[in-house]
Amino acid sequence: MKKFLMVCLGNICRSPMAEGILREKLRAANIEAEVDSCGFEAFHVGDSPDHRAIEVARANGVHISRLKARLFKASDFDEFDHIFVMDKTNYNDVASVARTEKDLEKVDFIMNRAYPGSNMAVPDPYYGGTSGFRKTWEMLDQATNRIVEDIRKGKL
Ligand code: 4NP
Repeated sequence: MKKFLMVCLGNICRSPMAEGILREKLRAANIEAEVDSCGFEAFHVGDSPDHRAIEVARANGVHISRLKARLFKASDFDEFDHIFVMDKTNYNDVASVARTEKDLEKVDFIMNRAYPGSNMAVPDPYYGGTSGFRKTWEMLDQATNRIVEDIRKGKL
């Protein structure tokens, strides 16, 4: 069974949305896999996702209010097969903890699934309004559609 880890900075906006949407799509597709999320900023550890993230997810039939923020740890490289980051800062944060080349090979920008090689960022919606969270959802919807497709094709 494949295990996927979504990583952002606060683990209260982008990565819990990514976790929820992918888990729901895998369930709907009858694919057995595990999904988790985490961040690098300690400030929100133990918190539920941001209320705007919860709301946008709920509007799309996905429930993330019970998730709790946690920090990335080196053992996540042992636990997970694929580690998807939202932006360059997250990539650098994860890379700074990587112990081996094999660890680093597990890490990629989530938008590279939809736009290979682009290293496109999912912008942090925290300081904007709800429209930013809807945009985040649209981007993650695209990326996770491709993740499910790639799992089906044996490419992930
Ligand atoms: P996220 O957004 O990385 O998408 O969860 C953020 C939320 C909170 C903070 C940073 C990013 N913060 O530093 O409080």
